[in-house]
Amino acid sequence: MLSTVGNTPLVRLHRLYPDHPVYAKVERFNPGGSVKDRSAVGMLVELIESGRIVPGRSVVVESSSGNLAVGIAQVCAYFGVRFVCVVDAKTTQQNRAVLRALGAEIEVVTARDPATGEYLPMRLRRVRELVESDPDAVNPDQYRNPRNPASMARVLAEITDELGPVDHVFCATSTCGTLRGCAEYAADQGLPTRFVAVDARGSAIFGDAPARRLIPGHGASIVPPLHGDGLADEVVHVSDLDCVVGCRRLVAREAILAGGSSGAVVTALDRTLDRLPADAVRVAVLPDGGDRYLDTIYSDRWVTRHFGEVAHLWKDLATHNPRSDK
Ligand SMILES: Cc1ncc(COP(=O)(O)O)c(C=O)c1O
Repeated sequence: MLSTVGNTPLVRLHRLYPDHPVYAKVERFNPGGSVKDRSAVGMLVELIESGRIVPGRSVVVESSSGNLAVGIAQVCAYFGVRFVCVVDAKTTQQNRAVLRALGAEIEVVTARDPATGEYLPMRLRRVRELVESDPDAVNPDQYRNPRNPASMARVLAEITDELGPVDHVFCATSTCGTLRGCAEYAADQGLPTRFVAVDARGSAIFGDAPARRLIPGHGASIVPPLHGDGLADEVVHVSDLDCVVGCRRLVAREAILAGGSSGAVVTALDRTLDRLPADAVRVAVLPDGGDRYLDTIYSDRWVTRHFGEVAHLWKDLATHNPRSDK
């Protein structure tokens, strides 16, 4: 099962971008449903092979808003390792159900950090407490573990194997594992690829002013240790509504049911479309699928409650446009 992680499909977005070579790396095809399966396998297999995790004795403890947790739960189920996952109130019910089905134990942090109003610092504090109180506990630590970005280098390697060197890769950011992994791979291989980091409005990663964010997965309330100056050639900040619109556009025109950060990446593609050379080859990494956002991004009631009547922003796209059916 673990060998099915990676080698995800690369599809041309003919309909959204008929006049530009734009591709999507569709990471929902990983067995756990997201790009974070790559980090989970990369980090855990190394910890098991080095003897730091001993199946039957060790307990893995990690903080995740969902996708990494699913990836780790999958690897732990495979190797027979106990897994305690620290999530927060924003983690969707679907993700919690998947985690339970994979045998993970879930701890939900419900209090926000008084200083930032965010859950993440509280989740990280709870992980530290759990690790300090149990000598058999091991924290892979996606925020610092070099295996997280190292396993993401494959994303760009697979893209380059298929398309040759590409001009621009658009990455959503949270731990910056995907961005760092791909950017370091490009530097190692001497590729000309430039990186557009796509971050949430209100996220601290690239210094935006803190603001409440609704959509889990991308953005962070801390500057992650894997972040570094020079990884991204450009940063685009997108709002929660931009994520919704991007997702609804993807499904209406390309039949890709994708998660919130994929909508963010599509919005960033739109914003930069006319600024970059028309023939520049662009690849959007779509980190996960939409199945876990059915009660939010794909719920008309949820969208109206948070943003008002906004369906006109994507409704006209659902109609057939033969010109773009190349
Ligand atoms: C849906 C989604 N998008 C984007 C990201 C960001 O990826 P990274 O942690 O590699 O920066 C994550 C990370 O968990 C995610 O779950």
